[in-house]
Amino acid sequence: MSAATPLPQERRLVTAIPGPKSQELQARKLGAVAAGVGTTLPVYVSRANGGVLEDVDGNSLIDFGSGIAVTSVGNSAEAVVAKATEQLAAFTHTCFMVTPYEGYVEVAEQLNELTPGDHEKRTALFNSGAEAVENAVKIARVYTKRTAVVVFDHGYHGRTNLTMGLTAKNMPYKQGFGPFAPEIYRVPVAYPYRWLTGSENCAAEAAAQAIDMINKQIGAENVAAIIIEPIQGEGGFIEPARGFLPAIVEYAKANGIVFVADEIQTGFCRTGQWFACDDEGIVPDLITTAKGIAGGLPLAAVTGRAEIMDATHGGGLGGTYGGNPVACAGALGAIETMKSQDLNGKAQRIGEIMLTRLRALQEKFAGSDTVNIGEVRGRGAMIAVELVKPGGKEPAAEITAAIAKACHAEGLVVLTAGTYGNVLRFLPPLVMPEHLLNEGLDIIEGAFSRV
Ligand SMILES: Cc1ncc(COP(=O)(O)O)c(C=O)c1O
Repeated sequence: MSAATPLPQERRLVTAIPGPKSQELQARKLGAVAAGVGTTLPVYVSRANGGVLEDVDGNSLIDFGSGIAVTSVGNSAEAVVAKATEQLAAFTHTCFMVTPYEGYVEVAEQLNELTPGDHEKRTALFNSGAEAVENAVKIARVYTKRTAVVVFDHGYHGRTNLTMGLTAKNMPYKQGFGPFAPEIYRVPVAYPYRWLTGSENCAAEAAAQAIDMINKQIGAENVAAIIIEPIQGEGGFIEPARGFLPAIVEYAKANGIVFVADEIQTGFCRTGQWFACDDEGIVPDLITTAKGIAGGLPLAAVTGRAEIMDATHGGGLGGTYGGNPVACAGALGAIETMKSQDLNGKAQRIGEIMLTRLRALQEKFAGSDTVNIGEVRGRGAMIAVELVKPGGKEPAAEITAAIAKACHAEGLVVLTAGTYGNVLRFLPPLVMPEHLLNEGLDIIEGAFSRV
């Protein structure tokens, strides 16, 4: 059966989860794969399409994870498969730095067009999100001739040495892997739910604190870049209080600092807009993208103001595989799908359904003596619930893990997140049929009741 043959969009459980064949493969994995490479749900996938993952035992699972916000256009989306297959048959690699090809240029043109702002832009392509963030730092340093980089509490930017340093959370991302790169400074973010003086004061106070720390502890004239996710992903889908991002952008502009929006998780229709920055009209100097860009093929990019992007000497940016022709073809298929199927509209609809149902669940469990939903938040198809112990805001990490496990057993892939491990996050493919979305939400509700 070809990879593009549509799978029935249904949940189907024919064994326990994980089933016997998955368990066998997991035993082989433990003997063959490095222990540091963990798996959330050891169900081995044989095919995937639209909103479902089919496993080696014949089970069909509802996918609320999209391989961590990657398969936004659905798994094995038709246009991605068609374009990548055609490219595979034509040629697989030349190295763009040696003998170039059109697909790379076309992806760069699309990114220059779609990303926020109508100024002149340039793009460079890479293989992974972390690599894109590293390159954004390189570019900002060359352009400003400064070294310091400012990042935020709860931020996540990757697992390479530089990006581990940029990432806030120690376990599991940083523990034992230091020393980290120098000249990285972390400042507060406007996290409304946990802002001590209340969510109304959060944006102004957090921005003032962050700016004061930069001025006093680093010196604005030493800062090359400020890097922030417009909605923090691994940190627990934290939407900075409205007004915070514009204040930081304004400060960066006034001080000649390159403002970098890390839209690796939020970009490409995930939040119901092409980019999460669009929501408050933020125009970043540089934007990093990856994940949803190519329908599952590894591709990442830095896009930004021409004068900043062009400041680097020839040969200073690149890599053997960056902008691989098959991945570029996949990206062109994915972007075409986002436009032709109005995936922004689909993400918005997913958001409406999920927020309504999860808020009802929040009410239902308001009086529970086991767990409360402290906050339901997110935009589009990037929605989360933060779970707390009754009577306060103490994170309920163990119950969060137990609820995720209960969902897995019922054939629903969900992920956890958050600095305190107490956030259930939902990232369905944007093509998820509504009946599966509702079935997934029923399973979540059932898991809350049981746990
Ligand atoms: C906001 C953000 N930045 C960077 C990364 C790193 O991307 P990658 O895992 O492709 O290196 C991630 C991955 O989760 C991310 O969510």
